[in-house]
Amino acid sequence: MERHERVQWIYSSRDNKELAERYDLWSRDYDTDLDEGFGWLGPQRAVEYFIKYVPKDARILDAGAGTGLVGELLAKQGYTNLIAMDLSKGMLEEARKKKVYREFHQMVLGEKLDYATDSFDAIISVGVLTVGHAPASSFDELIRITRPGGYIIFSLRPDVYRESGFREKQDNVEAAGKWKLVEASEEFQPLPKGEPDVYHQIWVYQTLGKRNPDTAAS
Ligand SMILES: C[S@@+](CC[C@H](N)C(=O)[O-])C[C@H]1O[C@@H](n2cnc3c(N)ncnc32)[C@H](O)[C@@H]1O
Repeated sequence: MERHERVQWIYSSRDNKELAERYDLWSRDYDTDLDEGFGWLGPQRAVEYFIKYVPKDARILDAGAGTGLVGELLAKQGYTNLIAMDLSKGMLEEARKKKVYREFHQMVLGEKLDYATDSFDAIISVGVLTVGHAPASSFDELIRITRPGGYIIFSLRPDVYRESGFREKQDNVEAAGKWKLVEASEEFQPLPKGEPDVYHQIWVYQTLGKRNPDTAAS
């Protein structure tokens, strides 16, 4: 299968089970395909923003860690307390080989996550929050497991932001006082070699301590 067909094949998955199976199958070739085929810049750009805000001793969840490209870059920057979470067992097995994460958890964004409230100082998620992968509703659990004053930093396609419920969700969460927008990057081409028409932005949010008094009682 050609590299471009493989991306279509991933996106045509009918449910999370099929998506996980397809990522399992792709896991061994993922790094080579993304690097040589697409010139994948998502992890690098997200980490550039991450290091501006998150101290080196932070406990960090890489949500949708995949083969660990983000963890590898964070480790190079001096971060050591890294936890990898992903839907695909095969991708997590590849991430394990990078030797930069302390723990590996197979979980699904968009469902309840098996982490205690306020477990992490920061969450990073690159190439995961998108159509057919993790929905906008994933933010509820990501916010719950991030301590107040922590950071949630992620990449998102601008068209997905506008058209797939992310804008509404991000605004509603901010209006409810659960996080505040710190910055959003310029749009950039994360796949300059293979898919130059695709754009991403990096979003940086800080979680807030107090719950909205209107919703806190319920
Ligand atoms: C395009 S890859 C990105 C991997 C890595 N973050 C990177 O930047 O290379 C998307 C990853 O998200 C995972 N994924 C997709 N939907 C998910 C979900 N709902 N919950 C958790 N992981 C998911 C896939 O298994 C895959 O490893």
